[in-house]
Amino acid sequence: MARDNDPMPQSHEYDVLIIGSGAAGLTVALNLPEHLNVCVVSKADISSGATLWAQGGIAAVLDDNDSLENHIQDTLNAGGGLCHEDAVRFTVEHGKESINWLIDSGVDFTRDEDAQYHLTREGGHSHRRIIHAADATGHAVSTTLASQAQARPNITLISGRVAVDLITNRKLSLPGNRCVGAYVLNLEDNHVELVRARFTVIATGGASKAYRYTTNPDGASGDGIAMAWRAGCRVANMEFNQFHPTCLYHPHAKSFLITEAVRGEGGVLKLPDGSRFMDRFDKRGELAPRDIVARAIDHEMKRLGADHLYLDISDKPADFVRHHFPTIYEKCLEFGIDITEQPIPVVPAAHYTCGGIVSDKRARTDINQLYVVGEAAFTGLHGANRMASNSLLECLVYGRAAAEDIARREAQIPPPPPVPDWDESQVRDSDEDVVISHNWDELRHFMWDYVGIVRTTKRLQRAKHRVDLLSREIGEFYSNYRVTNDLLELRNLVTVSDLIICSALQRKESRGLHYTLDYPGLLNEPRDTVLFPTTYRTLSP
Ligand code: FAD
Ligand code: SIN
Repeated sequence: MARDNDPMPQSHEYDVLIIGSGAAGLTVALNLPEHLNVCVVSKADISSGATLWAQGGIAAVLDDNDSLENHIQDTLNAGGGLCHEDAVRFTVEHGKESINWLIDSGVDFTRDEDAQYHLTREGGHSHRRIIHAADATGHAVSTTLASQAQARPNITLISGRVAVDLITNRKLSLPGNRCVGAYVLNLEDNHVELVRARFTVIATGGASKAYRYTTNPDGASGDGIAMAWRAGCRVANMEFNQFHPTCLYHPHAKSFLITEAVRGEGGVLKLPDGSRFMDRFDKRGELAPRDIVARAIDHEMKRLGADHLYLDISDKPADFVRHHFPTIYEKCLEFGIDITEQPIPVVPAAHYTCGGIVSDKRARTDINQLYVVGEAAFTGLHGANRMASNSLLECLVYGRAAAEDIARREAQIPPPPPVPDWDESQVRDSDEDVVISHNWDELRHFMWDYVGIVRTTKRLQRAKHRVDLLSREIGEFYSNYRVTNDLLELRNLVTVSDLIICSALQRKESRGLHYTLDYPGLLNEPRDTVLFPTTYRTLSP
């Protein structure tokens, strides 16, 4: 029987260990052959990552008036010349079958009056192609896949388990370049357990928690990216952190997104005096790609000294607004804002990590038997700016590809070798957790101020100086004290912040989401920023 929260033995062996239970991790799990013994661990509840909070929907070509070429072209345009066309084609061409898989799995997408699936629009898309479950698509996807996984006898789902580090042959001083599992912190008893596996899949989501303001849930600390980096994988294009233009601005609203579909259905952006401004920045107005809209809002806020601007959909009939955006309507009402009558106060916030662990079309990484799927991956799909709703699609397409590849290879892969238990003999319980909370705040503040929507070389250098100091301090803390979730997340956030800053310093142009006042132009030849662990030994603990 599949179990949720059964205690994991101190040491266990599976065919496949999947770290993360969002759309990416669960798609892999559910597409693996049922004779494989699969374990999915999640540091928080099974339904709790960014997937749960996705609002707008999933992009795919589902309408006869649309075409694969249109979706491909829109994605390439949004990506600022850096998308890998083969990855874009691969993703778009597998879109419809992935959506059909979700529908067959039981996801109840919104239909229109003719019982056809309703398709909405978002920035950068030239056609209506976003299939959605009202404005709570992620909730529908996450809960449906979780209940499917719970019903599978070969899948063990365990929450409250934090992967600490990957275990590789190299770390064990064995020959070969293989991943053989991970050390995992059990949050119930605070002990680190050993999980050996023939295959390991990173599906840990993004790293937007590196920034002070974010739309992401708490666990988005880039754990998988940092673990893979420490284990020896290449990481690419980390400078492209996407800022979503419209996060609800209210002192008591923690990270609440106002979906781009509000603009897709006619919502307009306004200055405090009620005037529109997007047409001054792009002829596509409110439906320009996200990097352009977020930068325009940031520019206007700075110009006017405003702490927020407005998104207004109150011109539409109240029933239409309540029907399409029930979650947003209710949430805003909780804060005294009736969106059928009033504009919504909004600010940009860190939203999505376009870069990640370098992977191929089978989701393989630089280490054998180690896969990466979802927001933690760099597949080449998003280029310098992800187009709205292409992310869940990537989770599905690459999740299925990873499962297929594992199924094809599994008969040839032997069990993992013996691995020593986690050694706690040299550490003690921390007596100054204030170091963690202080450093956590400091990191997220300077990342927002110095490595945000608009950058300069001087600000990036300041950030680099500070991240180096934090790296040393956290490294020391990690060597002396027993690990906790907060310490692990901070350690990972410092690493991914370092990767973001180093990548941003390398890019001497303004492209997509990376905009620097020192290099406002574009270089002739678009290039990925690929960091190699061997040449960046000084980075982070
Ligand atoms: P997640 O869903 O974030 O899951 C990560 C999992 O990894 C979680 O289970 C977490 O607990 C686990 N985890 C992390 N670290 C560890 C660790 N060390 N040990 C154990 N477990 C770990 N995209 C779209 O395409 N369409 C949308 O409409 C859309 N709307 C969005 C709205 C919001 C508010 C946000 C935040 C994002 C939105 N996105 C959208 C982006 C999209 O939701 C995410 O990119 C996608 O869900 C990522 O899925 P994932 O499976 O890679 O990661
Ligand atoms: C949104 O609904 O605006 C978010 C969509 C996305 O991030 O892809």
